[in-house]
Amino acid sequence: MKILGIESSCDETAAAVVENGRNVLSNVVATSLDEHKLYGGVVPEIASRRHAESISGVVTEALLQANCTLADIEAIAVTYAPGLIGALLVGVNFAKGLSAASGKPLVPVHHLRSHIAANYLTSDLEPPFLCLVVSGGHSHIVAVNSYTDYKIIGKTRDDAAGEALDKAGRTMGLEYPGGISIDKISPLGNANAFSFPHPKIADAPYDFSFSGLKTSVINTVHNSTQKGETVNTADLAASFQKAVVDCLITNFEKAAVDFGYKKIVLAGGVSANSLLRAESEKMCARHGWQLRLPQLKYCGDNGAMVAAQGYYEYLAGVKAPLSLNAYANMPIDNVNF
Ligand code: KG4
Ligand code: ZN
Repeated sequence: MKILGIESSCDETAAAVVENGRNVLSNVVATSLDEHKLYGGVVPEIASRRHAESISGVVTEALLQANCTLADIEAIAVTYAPGLIGALLVGVNFAKGLSAASGKPLVPVHHLRSHIAANYLTSDLEPPFLCLVVSGGHSHIVAVNSYTDYKIIGKTRDDAAGEALDKAGRTMGLEYPGGISIDKISPLGNANAFSFPHPKIADAPYDFSFSGLKTSVINTVHNSTQKGETVNTADLAASFQKAVVDCLITNFEKAAVDFGYKKIVLAGGVSANSLLRAESEKMCARHGWQLRLPQLKYCGDNGAMVAAQGYYEYLAGVKAPLSLNAYANMPIDNVNF
């Protein structure tokens, strides 16, 4: 069964054809990242305009590369929440048009569910498992009970891990997105050069807080600038990355122990981070847990993960009417459309 997946929640316009939720037949991504670099962050209006320009070509190319036409597709899966509303609407409206024209069912897909499904593309992973979902907009510890049943165990109280890395990177003068730049420069620095706070939330041991950590790095840079001193950027990046990864791993490990999970999974853009991947491996080796990581090419936003999750949503009977809307916010464990 072939599913067409369409993604436009942020700055990637993406489409893919995936067979039976696992076998990627095509995966086409166009990104407006280079334009956003000029502004140090995603400019929603620019992202929406680029989606509108690219979507038709990207979907056509995905079908061509998969050697199929709409007639071969069982259902059209599309990211409808959460994300930038103007960006999401481009994908949703395009998918609705395709569905109306072809008579193929329209399957709404939650963005974080699709990030988790990126793991189905490269391994035989099946729920239940415990997943750390870390992206530019979210940091969640999620119990994945089945392909369509989730429970949030912990989440960030303020900034997402990716957001903190991006803002810290900007303060350090690194290229957007800061998460990638910090990952690249950190091996050149000393991760113990600076000590950053590891915030804990007393009554919620699985929740995260990254805004204090972010403020701390901003203050470090500003204080040095005011004193006329220069900070070693690689040391700062390495120390900050270590603090973020320590916070993520500490809570994730505690959740896995407390809830008795032995199958451990990472997902989302930040799951591409080398230190997070290495520390997750060490954590799983310590406990004898099984670790699954998405392939690097499926960590960021893409259509294949939408098609993969769309397949399981479709099997579960999820189908949207043509009145489907897009939503900037939507919890992973209680979706509606
Ligand atoms: O999942 P994603 O592509 O988009 C959202 O759904 O938000 O995640 C983007 C985030 C950005 O914050 C980016 O800095 C971060 O993922 N990111 C990384 C790395 N690659 C992407 N963070 C740390 N290390 C990386 N290698
Ligand atoms: Zn994403």
